[in-house]
Amino acid sequence: MTLRIGFVGCGGMGKSHLRTLRDLDGFDVVALSDVSTEALSTCGEEFGVADHYTDCAEMCDAVKPDLVVVATQTRHHHGPSVAALERGIHVLCEKPMAIDPVEADEMVAAAHKSGAILSINQQNHVNPAVERALQMIEAGDIGDVVMVRGRNKHGRKSGNEFTEMGTHITDIMLRMGGKPLWVAGSVMWEGREVTADDIMEAKEMSPNDRDSGPVAGDRAIAHYGFEGGTLGEIQFLGYKALQNTNYGVDVLGSEGQLAVRVSGFKAGGIWHLPRPMEGTPADLGDWSAVDLGAEAEKETEALMYQRLAAAIAGNAAVPASGEAGRLAMEMVIGIYASHRQAGVRVALPLADRRHPLDAWRAG
Ligand SMILES: NC(=O)c1ccc[n+]([C@@H]2O[C@H](COP(=O)([O-])OP(=O)(O)OC[C@H]3O[C@@H](n4cnc5c(N)ncnc54)[C@H](O)[C@@H]3O)[C@@H](O)[C@H]2O)c1
Repeated sequence: MTLRIGFVGCGGMGKSHLRTLRDLDGFDVVALSDVSTEALSTCGEEFGVADHYTDCAEMCDAVKPDLVVVATQTRHHHGPSVAALERGIHVLCEKPMAIDPVEADEMVAAAHKSGAILSINQQNHVNPAVERALQMIEAGDIGDVVMVRGRNKHGRKSGNEFTEMGTHITDIMLRMGGKPLWVAGSVMWEGREVTADDIMEAKEMSPNDRDSGPVAGDRAIAHYGFEGGTLGEIQFLGYKALQNTNYGVDVLGSEGQLAVRVSGFKAGGIWHLPRPMEGTPADLGDWSAVDLGAEAEKETEALMYQRLAAAIAGNAAVPASGEAGRLAMEMVIGIYASHRQAGVRVALPLADRRHPLDAWRAG
């Protein structure tokens, strides 16, 4: 069966999706939607799609696609996603899924009500390195999981890194650690603790970055407690240089460790240490690379579409469901809720559904 796609958002990431879809069997992009008529005509020409709309709801009513892909910036995820979901049309929405938990709740509720699938493009959910690491954990290769440490690739101010990269990392942490129960975090700005006066919009912090809502801080650290006693940690240290090979998670077990890296849109890699404690840097010779074989060459974006198609056909679980995307987002912005209360543990999911920085600004 070929899935007919109505595609929303013909910008940078939109084109990346459209290139992936052009090379994939089983998908046909039948219409494009963007508020910019210029973006519509450029993309339409490049990808050979002639049916154009400036409104997603109108596109859905006219074309009745099977799947709507939402590749706009975060502030514009909720509107097109809900318009499609309310009409019973499945949605693949870019990350982070929404500006705040209120929007995320409405997106999940719209999917539940119509029965349509909502999936968030946290594509490392289907990354072969992540899946192999999960198999190794299940097989007991590192004993019991004691701690999952999220690692980011830097190159952005921490506040922007939270919102733009955070959910990719927390999504993997969720898969390794299980259900998160609480978050405790601290956020710094220019050498001191963040105050309510330091809250700004993402574009104000970094004018060339994306509009992903309110942000604060240039460094942060947070700890998590997962059901069953596994601990988590994430660091946003504000290093100026981008380092793709730093991106992924470390999984610390009672009998060994895994260093899982998910660089770029390919699998990345896994390194295995057959003992729990690293010792001095001179002891590190017994880390070994895990051979992912042909899986290493697969493109995660294409895998995401294939897994979603299988879920729509009823043959697989939904990859990074709306619920998972929402929890991954709350693990990130919950750091602000904890920081505001001097680092106390804040229960997850968050009780206050406003963005913690909006709640803080409101007093
Ligand atoms: N999954 C990943 O690895 C990954 C990588 C890069 C970007 N992203 C995400 O992709 C999303 C888009 O980022 P980008 O850099 O491509 O943005 P962009 O600004 O390049 O493109 C956004 C496009 O959406 C259009 N648009 C804005 N509002 C709209 C609306 N209401 N309806 C229809 N179209 C609208 C704009 O005109 C523009 O063409 C962001 O959420 C970003 O975080 C994800």
